[in-house]
Amino acid sequence: MEQYIIKGGNPLVGEVEIGGAKNAALAILATAIMADETVTIENLPNVRDINVMLEAIKGIGGKVDRIDVHTVKINGAMIRDLSVDYEYIKKIRASYYLLGALLGKYKKAEVALPGGCDIGSRPIDLHLKGFRALGAKVDIQHGLISAEAEELQGTHIYLDKVSVGATINIMMAAAMAKGKTTIENAAKEPHVVDVANCLNSMGANIRGAGTDVIRISGVEKLHKTEYSIIPDQIEAGTFMFAAAATRGDITVKNVIPKHLEAISAKLVEIGCEVKELDDAVRVVASKPLHHTQVTTLPYPGFPTDMQPQMSVVLGISEGTSTVTESIFENRFKYVDELTRMGASIKVESNIAIVTGVGNYTGAQVSAPDLRAGAALVIAGLSAEGITIIDDIYYIERGYEGFDEKLAQLGAQIQKVTTEKEITKFKLKVS
Ligand code: EPZ
Repeated sequence: MEQYIIKGGNPLVGEVEIGGAKNAALAILATAIMADETVTIENLPNVRDINVMLEAIKGIGGKVDRIDVHTVKINGAMIRDLSVDYEYIKKIRASYYLLGALLGKYKKAEVALPGGCDIGSRPIDLHLKGFRALGAKVDIQHGLISAEAEELQGTHIYLDKVSVGATINIMMAAAMAKGKTTIENAAKEPHVVDVANCLNSMGANIRGAGTDVIRISGVEKLHKTEYSIIPDQIEAGTFMFAAAATRGDITVKNVIPKHLEAISAKLVEIGCEVKELDDAVRVVASKPLHHTQVTTLPYPGFPTDMQPQMSVVLGISEGTSTVTESIFENRFKYVDELTRMGASIKVESNIAIVTGVGNYTGAQVSAPDLRAGAALVIAGLSAEGITIIDDIYYIERGYEGFDEKLAQLGAQIQKVTTEKEITKFKLKVS
């Protein structure tokens, strides 16, 4: 089983190129099958989840040509199978975006019901509420969601909770419905805007993405396009927090600074210097860092996908901080692992009370999920001594070349699979 081994203590210094946004790309790959012409998607992150989504598209008969690791051409003309295999939804929940895409295009779709995951139960009731509001008959039997409609009729949908997935899935189905659809209380994440922009470049008529009211006028057909995915704000934020944790100086390049405002604001609040350039942000952590309060919120609030990374940095900042997780009900599983590295964190329901300690000490820990895994890497980079991280396949679901990019910034980190490699690494860094 692959692991990361890290010798902590080096301040990370330098520049790192940020890749395409995984959570935009997963949805945009699904929209690509809605045309019967070739859709070219560029700046794809080369991560496991993207590769699974491409397999799922091939699985229903979509034509997938990988031009290079970051570029793919998709053609949905030959799709015959409107049922997405359970194996894909088991691997990535986001396969459910094929439900909205297939229902929008063919007025019929079947996708396995996604289970819960590492950070909570993750219901999709709002997605199904939206499809039913558009006139689809939606049944759940034997773990399968089947949705079907003579035709989809535009309507007014109010989302009881702000949901990225439901906003995007309903937007896709409504894009090819008859008439106008309004989605109220819509998610405003940059990746929601990216999906709307991609659909509009394919001939859809979507207005208001990025605000809490999205207006869609359905169209008969969608056509080919060439579209480039926006930079990944969470990958960027993860490197920015690595600069803070290691008291380093990192410039994240090829980003949209506006998408990082909540992350930058928190770094400034705890004592980092943050300099925004046109398509880059520089984080310098030369002074001792101190406590703050943070609550995760839908965009433009502080992102839940940055919550574990925030706790890791606060765990070695002066004073006592609070981290409130308002989006998911079980996103503090990493705290037990971090405690083994010397953290002093107490979790009471959805609030973590973080008492800063001088530093972490290296230990063997396991990644409980994607973002928590990345946060434990950050802890290992700042820790005194050696940290070994198990279950790094979680991390590779959403971070391309994570260890290589960190090593280029001066981190002593290596991906290993054998005891021999671990011994060699320890000799090299001792
Ligand atoms: C997306 O998940 C992201 N995943 C998550 O990133 C991210 O944490 C989340 O948005 C919030 O930003 C992808 O884009 C693939 P939601 P999603 O629907 O769409 C509840 C990562 O690390 N809810 O906005 O599933 C839900 O339980 C992943 O990259 C319902 O109750 O999130 C949660 O409490 C982790 N009913 C809240 O809404 C529904 O039908 C927000 O979830 C849908 C959601």
